[in-house]
Amino acid sequence: MTKALTTSVCIIGSGPAGLLLSQMLSNAGIDTIVIDRQNRAHIESRIRAGVLEQGTVKAMEDAGVADRLHREGLVHDGFDLAFDGIRHRINLRALTGKTVTVYGQTEVTKDLFAKRIAEGGRFFFDVADVVPADLTTDRPQVHFMHDGEPVTVFCDYVAGCDGFHGVSRNAIPADILKTYERIYPFGWLGVLTERPPVSDELIYANHDRGFALCSMRSETRSRYYVQCGIDDDVADWPDDRFWEELRMRIGPETAAHLQTGPSFEKSIAPLRSFVAEPMRYGNLFLAGDAAHIVPPTGAKGLNLAVADIRILSRALIERYQRNDTRYINTYSQTVLSRVWKVERFSWQMSNLMHQFPDNTPFEKKMQRAEFEYVTQSEAASRAIAENYVGLPLDP
Ligand code: APR
Ligand code: PHB
Repeated sequence: MTKALTTSVCIIGSGPAGLLLSQMLSNAGIDTIVIDRQNRAHIESRIRAGVLEQGTVKAMEDAGVADRLHREGLVHDGFDLAFDGIRHRINLRALTGKTVTVYGQTEVTKDLFAKRIAEGGRFFFDVADVVPADLTTDRPQVHFMHDGEPVTVFCDYVAGCDGFHGVSRNAIPADILKTYERIYPFGWLGVLTERPPVSDELIYANHDRGFALCSMRSETRSRYYVQCGIDDDVADWPDDRFWEELRMRIGPETAAHLQTGPSFEKSIAPLRSFVAEPMRYGNLFLAGDAAHIVPPTGAKGLNLAVADIRILSRALIERYQRNDTRYINTYSQTVLSRVWKVERFSWQMSNLMHQFPDNTPFEKKMQRAEFEYVTQSEAASRAIAENYVGLPLDP
């Protein structure tokens, strides 16, 4: 016997995108059901990036979940780009009047979960065999298995917030869905260590040996990355090798301040640029990693997901509160316009800051010429800064 449920919006995926959408719609009096193939503990255990644009902070404020973010987040006025140990500060506040906040995505997810659960949000965890159906009718459905029982959710709209490996994107017919992809010929090996950060702000470093990033989670917990081989395994990287490589890539002046310690998290992530079009099919809306992936060099993954949700929640709220479907009808083109600009920035930063195995000496010279141009041109620095703090939601 299939359990039949109804809601206004069925959200597939309870990562940052799905959770934020559920909260923003709930605040507007719109009912949702959120389903996920994992459980809350698993989702909250994921280690992800940690730089929030001001727009993301505002979205958390609007959702009513920014208290801890304001208490524990670290507001940064700038960051450094470095080439062979020579550092150039991108002064975000002077160049754009804006800042970014360092606050782990894990914490964003925990804060969103805490509020949704406290307010009685309807969740189904550990679901299986999720099938969105009847998406082009005015009564779409989402079928899935939960605790061995078949469930069907009848709704007005389905939000595909189920990430890159989800099912929503492929619910769009193959003759309509178009995808664009670039896979980078390297990965990022990341570690967490309970040591103070090497610098007060982030350092993105390009060195002949490869890229490195010095980041943080707090004033006592650091997050570091080094570019690694696309087929590397964590086992290839004992802590000693990691710290030695990081020291070489950030240069002796910076390395003199590096406090190394045992890593308590170590993982390798591939780098990919990916976009799926359209981001709407009938009454299915894609948002976040379900529709796009950016290389982490621009710190945009979470911020782009949040921007999608700000645009999608506005569209749905306008429809339910004022019966105005204007934003729903323009959702895909509005959100994709911004997605492609953020993909461009993330691709540009990745090309500038990494050692590409197939780069010719000329291309290496182009990287350094661009770095030198950025250090000497306020216009070039401002271009990087305005993308890093976050482009406007509506052009
Ligand atoms: N059915 C139900 N849930 C699913 C399915 C499925 N078939 N497939 C995936 N999911 C769930 C995952 O378990 C995950 O909790 O969808 C959620 C997707 O969450 P994210 O991958 O975090 O994607 P999103 O919410 O868009 O957030 C994007 O997360 O991956 C990072 O770098 C990315 O920072 C960015 C952010
Ligand atoms: C991180 O702190 O994990 C981080 C910061 C900036 C990035 C990527 C990752 O661009």
